[in-house]
Amino acid sequence: MSSLSLSNSRTMPAFGLGTWKAAPGVAYTTIRTALEIGYRHFDCAAIYGNEVEIGQAFRDAFQAGDVRREDLWITSKLWNDHHEQARVREGLQKTLSDLKLDYLDLYLVHWPVAFAHGFSFARNKEQFLTEEQAPLAQTWEAMAQLNSEGLAGSIGLSNHSLAKMDRLTAAVGVAPHVAQVEVHPFLPQIEFVQGCKERKIAVTAYSPLGSRDRHPSMRSPNEPTLLEHPTLLQIAEHHGASPAQVLIAWALHRGTSVIPKSSNPGRLAENFAAQTLSLSEEEIAQLTALGRGYRYVDGRFFCGNGSHHTYESLWA
Ligand code: A2P
Repeated sequence: MSSLSLSNSRTMPAFGLGTWKAAPGVAYTTIRTALEIGYRHFDCAAIYGNEVEIGQAFRDAFQAGDVRREDLWITSKLWNDHHEQARVREGLQKTLSDLKLDYLDLYLVHWPVAFAHGFSFARNKEQFLTEEQAPLAQTWEAMAQLNSEGLAGSIGLSNHSLAKMDRLTAAVGVAPHVAQVEVHPFLPQIEFVQGCKERKIAVTAYSPLGSRDRHPSMRSPNEPTLLEHPTLLQIAEHHGASPAQVLIAWALHRGTSVIPKSSNPGRLAENFAAQTLSLSEEEIAQLTALGRGYRYVDGRFFCGNGSHHTYESLWA
């Protein structure tokens, strides 16, 4: 299992399991099965609504002696309604309690978007907090504090541009250890990945398979189907591999961490096996050339309903 060395000398397994959309009633078995297969990196978040169930799976696996806590890399994310400086600790403590852990390996600010406390989704102007009401630098400062106390071994930012990360680094004097963003051949994030490399920030690629199981309200009717692209199918056939395996191998080859989601035992094993698939430089280049700036998770759901965010400002 390959791993990434972070700027704080910690080591993150490059391959992990995404848990967004792991449904209640399914998440528990998914985690136990993934642990049996050999998964050691788990990407969670408060807003996914399944941390209690995932935590039970971890606890039972530890008690059964399947795996030790220190052998796992567990990430979670601060939701938008806990951005106010005084609430960041509460956000982490709730996640730790739900996951039944006493520390996280990595805690991320989920989005550069703040909501009033108690709203899992903002639906009007009052439910969005402005930069003046909840300065992102203060959120980041609180994250750095939790890191210094060891409650989160590493900290980072998800869905933040390089410019936003630079601003926060300068304001607080602490750089993120990890940046998590959507990355796949339709959105190869060439400049972002290079920029993170220069800044010694590890990148985790989310939605690496094109996130087909998103709720219809989050999908645009004409979105392209990554897993069916002819170039991908051709490379997969050449290797006797599945298209998903090729996408995972592409991400690993580019030096990013990658967190494909599956709740299906066969596909969990298939995705895990992709770690040993080796692609040629030419194949990597062919896939990277499919880039078209296409975001499946475009954040437009934060840009209406009286929000002060626009699509442009969100990603700038
Ligand atoms: P399932 O959970 O039924 O396996 P992403 O990681 O980009 O969010 O994509 C997750 C979606 O991809 C889910 O719909 C998941 O379905 C599906 N998926 C996961 N692994 C594979 C695979 N090996 N082949 C095809 N689809 C997959």
